[in-house]
Order: sequence, then structure tokens, then C-alpha cells
Amino acid sequence: VPLQAFNTFGIAARARHYLRVSDPAQLDALHAHAALAGVPRFVLGGGSNVLLTRDIDALVLHMALSGRAIVGEDDGKVLVRAGAGENWHGFVDYTLAQGLGGLENLSLIPGTVGAAPIQNIGAYGIETKDVFHSLTAFDLETGARRILHARDCRFGYRDSVFKHAEGARLVVLDVTFALPREWQPNLRYAELAQAVEAAALAAPTPRQVSELVVAIRRRKLPDPAEIGNAGSFFKNPVVPAGQCRELLERFPHLVHHAQADGSEKLAAGWLIDQCGWKGKQLGAAGVYPKQALVLVNNGGATGAEVVALARAIQRDVLARFGVELEPEPVFV
Ligand code: EPU
Repeated sequence: VPLQAFNTFGIAARARHYLRVSDPAQLDALHAHAALAGVPRFVLGGGSNVLLTRDIDALVLHMALSGRAIVGEDDGKVLVRAGAGENWHGFVDYTLAQGLGGLENLSLIPGTVGAAPIQNIGAYGIETKDVFHSLTAFDLETGARRILHARDCRFGYRDSVFKHAEGARLVVLDVTFALPREWQPNLRYAELAQAVEAAALAAPTPRQVSELVVAIRRRKLPDPAEIGNAGSFFKNPVVPAGQCRELLERFPHLVHHAQADGSEKLAAGWLIDQCGWKGKQLGAAGVYPKQALVLVNNGGATGAEVVALARAIQRDVLARFGVELEPEPVFV
């Protein structure tokens, strides 16, 4: 089955077996199917965080579970649930239409609801973990359903238990978010605060904040429908305070943000930009001219070409700054 339309990089790779999962009962049936017992599984959501470098010799479970609803209240928060296959931005939009704030800073992030906890997606000062209540997962090994709360998910920066061996057997079926009744805008991210000020909004609504986030993202990030990409290709590296101080002596303009534990998060986009990679190409793979952190498919790129470009960037950043860049998407 061709997967080109199912990954935002638009890489032409194929799946040996493919199942579009639109009903959780399909997973029960699959678990009971003896002939498929030994076939490895590969879970695919919106395909916005994978880099396909070859065909997938597995059964691809393409998560298409739908449904969105307000399901209750807990501790003064409104609980809103969505199926794993729901489009993320469509879900954000739905919560705004219900008069609920809390997800607006995460507007326009590509991908599905089910992928949000896996990556602990984050933008403009908010991460999934800040608004997460719980999720239902299907255990591919036992066939049982499990409820996981935030603590069970072990959220970290663009990380969770699902990206590690212990969580790999779990398929997210639906996710529940806890959104505040009493909403306050989160304007900790300077660029968003400036946009609110520039729009002369003294008391912005969640919808207005969402519109500003959408405008910022449209300005600097390519639309996967037009140019294949997977958002930030590298994580922003976290280094010890001492290393950051040394770097600042040599590079006074280094972009860095102090973390709660005293370490410093560096802007990978700045590091790559300084190495002169912005707008450069290697074969059909390229570095987006408006944001060096995003690698793009300029048309017909193979996964191998994107990997070659990524390696070249990593090599240069390591040589110049002594910092290792870790890719954000999952390489297949
Ligand atoms: N910068 C440059 N040159 C560039 C790109 C960035 O000098 O080509 C500098 C900017 O001037 C800025 C700094 O680097 O001072 C940081 O850039 P930006 O604010 O655009 O954020 P980012 O670090 O590039 C992160 C997330 C994004 C998220 C934004 C907003 C990661 C890996 N990326 O990007 O997430 O939308 O912050 O919160 O943490 C994603 O994960 O796919 C993603 C897009």
C-alpha cells in the first residue's frame, strides 16, 4: 500500500500490510487473529512526525478513530475527549467553538489527537502535558484496554513513555484533556505576547489567541499540503549551564533559555542558521528558507536524501558549537 499521501514529508514508501482503524473493535479482531500474530505492527497517525527511509515491512495500523465530546468535569476543569484519529487542529477548533480555552497556543500543529501525547506536542509556552487528563490505550500484546494518567505517560520535552520500549506496545485510542472554566491567556512566549500587543488586544479571547498563533505559524512554517515537511526536524538541545556560558563567550548572540533545573535550552534553528544552512539544498531535500529548523521535501525527495542532509547539518553544528542535535521525527 503506498504511504506517500499518509506522511507529511510526502516520501514515496510502501506498507507491506495496511489496516485503516476506524473502530476499536478492529484491534480486538486483529488480536484474536492467529495468522497475523507474528506480524510486527507499526502505528501511524497523521504521519507528521515520521521520516520514511524505506518500505515498512509490517502491518501499518492507520489510526482513524473519530469522535469529539465534552465528557464531564474534574476539579473545576472541563473534560473533553477525542478519538485518536481526529485532526489535531480540528479538535482545537472544536474546543474553541464550545467556548473552551486552553488549547489555543497549540493551534495549527499538524497531525492527530492520538499523536499529541506521544510527542508531548508543544508550542508557544504550552505542552500537551499541561492540559492532559488521561488516555485510553490498546495493549497490542495482551489485547487489553488501559487508562493512563499523566504520571503513567512520563512526559518530557517532545517525549513520553510511548516513544520508549515499555510503551511501544500501546496504541492510543482516545485522549481526554482537562480545560479550565476560568481561562487566562498564556502569553509567556515573547513572540505571542508581542503579537497580542501589536493587535491592541487588552483582553484577548481564546479564539483571538488562536488566530494570532495561526498567523505566526503561517509566517514561518511551511504548510505540509504545499511543501513536504515534519515541522521542527531537530529538538532544541539542552546543555549544562557551564557549556552555555563558554559558548556565550565565543558567540554572544547565542539564543538560549534557562530551564527549571538550571540547564540551558539552545535554539537549534539559530545554530543551524549560523552554519549557513538556511535555504540550502542537498538533492531534493532542503532547509526551509524562513526557518532553519525545518527540513523540506522540494519534490520527489527520498528518505535517504533527507537523512543525508540531516547528517551534514548535525556534523557542522557539532564541529562549530560542540553540540549534538537530536532529530525529532521517528526514522523508519
Ligand atoms: N532562529 C534563527 N534562525 C532560524 C530559526 C530560528 O536564528 O532559522 C532563532 C529565532 O530567531 C529565535 C530562536 O531561534 O530566537 C527560536 O526560534 P522559534 O521561536 O521559531 O522557535 P523554535 O525553537 O524554532 C520551537 C518548537 C516549535 C514551536 C516553537 C514555538 C522545538 C524543536 N520546536 O521552535 O515546535 O512551534 O518553538 O513554541 O521545540 C515542532 O516541534 O515541530 C515545532 C514546530
